[in-house]
Amino acid sequence: MSVFSEPAATPSALLLLGRGADPTAERGVECPGDLPPAADPSLIERARAARAALGERAFILGHHYQRDEVIDFADVTGDSFKLAREAAARPEAEYIVFCGVHFMAESADILTAASQKVVLPDLAAGCSMADMAAIAQVEDAWDALTDAGVADGTVPVTYMNSSAAIKAFTGEHGGTVCTSSNAERALRWAFGKGERVLFLPDQHLGRNTAVLQLGMSLDDCVVYNPHKPGGGVTADELRRARMILWRGHCSVHGRFTRTCVDQVRERVPGVNVLVHPECAHEVVTAADLVGSTEFIIKTLESAPSGSAWAIGTELNLVRRLARTHPDKHVTFLDSTVCYCSTMNRIDLPHLVASLESLAAGTVANQITVPERVAHWSRVALQQMLDLPAN
Ligand code: 13P
Ligand code: SF4
Repeated sequence: MSVFSEPAATPSALLLLGRGADPTAERGVECPGDLPPAADPSLIERARAARAALGERAFILGHHYQRDEVIDFADVTGDSFKLAREAAARPEAEYIVFCGVHFMAESADILTAASQKVVLPDLAAGCSMADMAAIAQVEDAWDALTDAGVADGTVPVTYMNSSAAIKAFTGEHGGTVCTSSNAERALRWAFGKGERVLFLPDQHLGRNTAVLQLGMSLDDCVVYNPHKPGGGVTADELRRARMILWRGHCSVHGRFTRTCVDQVRERVPGVNVLVHPECAHEVVTAADLVGSTEFIIKTLESAPSGSAWAIGTELNLVRRLARTHPDKHVTFLDSTVCYCSTMNRIDLPHLVASLESLAAGTVANQITVPERVAHWSRVALQQMLDLPAN
């Protein structure tokens, strides 16, 4: 049996959380409410009792990056694409308890009936990548594209990891949402409609998909930096570009480097390097395989016994894969810890507090998207669900 070796501790926290309250931001807000202490020995019993009391009135979704103690209570686990579909397919559930991050819960609220309530067990579970594109910045970027005379032929494609306001912008401008499992299909669809794509907010997923799956060159891509006047690109560069990439990234996948890949190849002979497309282009091109979290899980499931894998994605998932595949050598791509600190905000005490309050008839931490935003977001999300098969 292969033993998973834990990466070393990370020297500093990845994100500052819980500072102030801004319910429109993904960056994390104070989470109100009483929480049971983490050391309470009856937490598992309490979670089971509240779960049983709720029965079919509640449906619990768990993203693959959630902690084991939370995944144990999930009715279904998945990547963001699968979870969006699962939420939409549960009209009978009064409560959708979303163990993931804020933008996922927003999408669930948009895709479910008005009578259903979506709950995020910790309101501080945001996403730093989603926060890298604010709606006012995206509107400014669209003005820059309009001034350069290219807005008309540009189709916005936004990664699921974005606020509902950005998804609504995308719907209103004839674009689509995508996830890491269908980015190629989304881009092919978009290039059937226009000559250029504005890809939000993850530059890496946009670049990796355009270059590795659509065969574009790096020169076909420009990066729009919302912190620079005019995005730091000239009108000519915008006109020449086929992919206009927003300057956003994931703080978790952004930690993997080319050196991590080189070092693991030295450390583990014959290792297969498997990474998520939110990793930088130089990491993805040095890897053997690239794909969404569902792809990573399926690849491990079909890998032969005795094979060796270095995986570049969130640590909760990699550790779970190592545990569920003891016949394979599974290692973490980085030598230091790389959790998604916001995904990790949802722990058993938060889940217990959520379930117990629902069972007692109080809906705490409900995520609601205003109707106008929800309408146009739904258009973009539905476009994603309707994307033609490959
Ligand atoms: P997927 O779930 O689409 O693979 O995305 C990974 C991620 O970073 C979710 O926040
Ligand atoms: Fe956001 Fe990255 Fe965490 Fe996913 S893993 S929620 S993209 S910070």
